[in-house]
Amino acid sequence: MNIKAVQGEFKESEHRYILEPCFEGPEFLEKASANNRELLERMGFNGRENTNAVIPSGQSIYAYVGLGKREKFSTEIMRRSYSKAIMAVAKLGAKDIAIIPPPMDNSAFETSYTAAITLYEFDTYRSKKRKFSVENIFIKTDDTNGVKEGSAVGECTNFTREMANQPPSIGTPTLFETKAKEISGIKVTVLGREDFIKLGMGGLEGVSRAAKEPARMVIMEYTGSEEKPLLLVGKGITFDSGGLSLKPPDGMVDMKFDKCGAAAVLGIMKLASTLSLKRHLVGIMALTENLPGGNAYKPGDILKHYNGKTSEIISTDAEGRLVLSDSLAYGIEKYSPSRVLDFATLTGACVVALGNIYAGMMGNDDTFMRELVGASQRTWENVWRLPLDDDFKDQISSKVADIKNTGGRPGGAETAAAFLSNFVGETPWVHLDIAGTAWTEPTTPHVAYLPDGATGFGVRLIYEYLNQKH
Ligand code: BES
Ligand code: MN
Ligand code: ZN
Repeated sequence: MNIKAVQGEFKESEHRYILEPCFEGPEFLEKASANNRELLERMGFNGRENTNAVIPSGQSIYAYVGLGKREKFSTEIMRRSYSKAIMAVAKLGAKDIAIIPPPMDNSAFETSYTAAITLYEFDTYRSKKRKFSVENIFIKTDDTNGVKEGSAVGECTNFTREMANQPPSIGTPTLFETKAKEISGIKVTVLGREDFIKLGMGGLEGVSRAAKEPARMVIMEYTGSEEKPLLLVGKGITFDSGGLSLKPPDGMVDMKFDKCGAAAVLGIMKLASTLSLKRHLVGIMALTENLPGGNAYKPGDILKHYNGKTSEIISTDAEGRLVLSDSLAYGIEKYSPSRVLDFATLTGACVVALGNIYAGMMGNDDTFMRELVGASQRTWENVWRLPLDDDFKDQISSKVADIKNTGGRPGGAETAAAFLSNFVGETPWVHLDIAGTAWTEPTTPHVAYLPDGATGFGVRLIYEYLNQKH
């Protein structure tokens, strides 16, 4: 799909489908031609948010996009209303859509981004392909750079979705390695099981012991500036069966999505390369399956992590924190980052606490967390801070090792973060538990820009965060 900036008015002779913004109230109807006004009034359309009216007029078909009252207008209202209208004309079989953006800051960027993420569908393995056949999006704007950036962020979000949606026997650590190496302008280093053993990465070694697919730590470096890097770490469990602490079937069915953190990190690296961002980024993906087997790691095992700390395994299903611990400690030692951010579908407890609406945010640095909240408010990707007092750290102390890998059901999201805090030292660090937001569930808000399956949570958020830090 192509997204292009077009300067000047759209000509009806050239554009069959035209989207036009429309605030609630009489001003819009007053401007409309007499014919249209009568039709829209008969349809009961008055510009309410999240509604639209599709009517033929002249040589074109217009989709009037309701944006609600001007005083209440927000970027999120725009995203929801435009994506719904885009869907409406896409379903009519539109090949080209001409879009007039609403009057707002960054309108070219937001409109392009919204169009890109709305038209993604995971149809790779379906014989009956896409439900719609949009080939070109034209945005009426002089801001060609906004269109370029907005569509790049959208396309990289879709890339993250596509990686995360892969079935577990295809979306393997090897596939992530291959895709990382296809991104131009980044340096890729790959570690395997022999390296985990040699380097003392007991967490990755333990979890990957019974994996059929070769496990990988994939390290990607993008050097767009001389500053100390931002380190991004992603949980990439390509399938989480729970291991010997086996999940029940109902809990296992969506566990191909346990690689969403790694997919987000990969998408952000691709975005940095696509837009030649002037930032220094290191992305680490901790990739392995978590499977049972005669050679699997066991409850009762004690693993020694990269920074020398030992952990007692209570549940082999609390595997995410084990692979992240080595990745965090290794990345911090090797790259001396200014800040570290990890993405992980880490706990069911976080989903219970925050639903499918917010990612849980925990960390050791107030400023960093405040900046992420600020970035998140400009996106649909909500984050909500959860506590991480030292008392949570006490909850995971062990009699036989330095720490244990679960602290029981109470405060499950917080004790998981407390585990990770043992591997970051003093480096400013934030953990995002995206277990509830990385893919859609029936309880996810029904918005047209979130298709079934992986959401790509994290890509836009980090783009905004990096922009704000300039
Ligand atoms: N990948 C899961 C977390 C998860 C569960 C994400 C459901 C999304 C939906 C993680 O590896 C896990 O199994 N966590 C356990 C931890 C427990 C054993 C301490 C959990 O949340 O139940
Ligand atoms: Mn698990
Ligand atoms: Zn998991």
